[in-house]
Amino acid sequence: MNDNFKKNIIWQKHSITRTKREKKNAHKSIAVWFTGLSGSGKSSIANFLEKILFKNGINSYLLDGDNIRSGLCSDLSFSVIDREENIRRIGEVVKIMLDAGIIILVSVISPYKYQREMIRQMLGKKNFLEIFVDTPISICESRDPKKLYKQARTGKISDFTGVQSVYEIPQNPDVLLNGTDLLEDNSKKLIKILYDRSIIPFLRTN
Ligand code: ADX
Repeated sequence: MNDNFKKNIIWQKHSITRTKREKKNAHKSIAVWFTGLSGSGKSSIANFLEKILFKNGINSYLLDGDNIRSGLCSDLSFSVIDREENIRRIGEVVKIMLDAGIIILVSVISPYKYQREMIRQMLGKKNFLEIFVDTPISICESRDPKKLYKQARTGKISDFTGVQSVYEIPQNPDVLLNGTDLLEDNSKKLIKILYDRSIIPFLRTN
């Protein structure tokens, strides 16, 4: 961005702060970031978890890679640099939603370690929970819910993660979930973590 342009931007402080919103909501705000291969179960777990949160009065929003790429990021490809821009924009949206006092569930492949680190820095350590949904590629490929692995194998799609493009396994995620476990069990684990960190005030899992 042009520096002259930046100089004329003055951050506005608002009276209604994140702290006030969190107090009103009776829960804290955090980004729960699901990373993993396509078909690993990220979106299914996030969706299951969000249903529990919603039922129990928690303000949340699920940002899903495919949906974001249908609008905000529809101009981006799957090159390394465009994936970085995709993640950066999602990070900026998450920053706003953190300020809005919401629990944000993010379901994006986010295959590169440096990009996930970039997000951790951008949001701050205490605002970011990295959840690695660990599912062997053979299982993701046998599920192939969108028939994308099939298309990647036959060369109809290029740069497909896990086929022509790398997925860098998180070495030290905040939470490791086995993507072949029941959605209910994985959601229970996450509810417990949110409770233990005093983000939500209950341990109910339905
Ligand atoms: S990311 O790598 O930039 O984080 P993101 O989560 O936004 O990916 O989008 C991934 C989704 O886009 C997949 O779930 C899949 O449905 C679709 N998709 C289409 N082409 C590709 C591709 N080449 N690699 C990965 N996902 C793809």
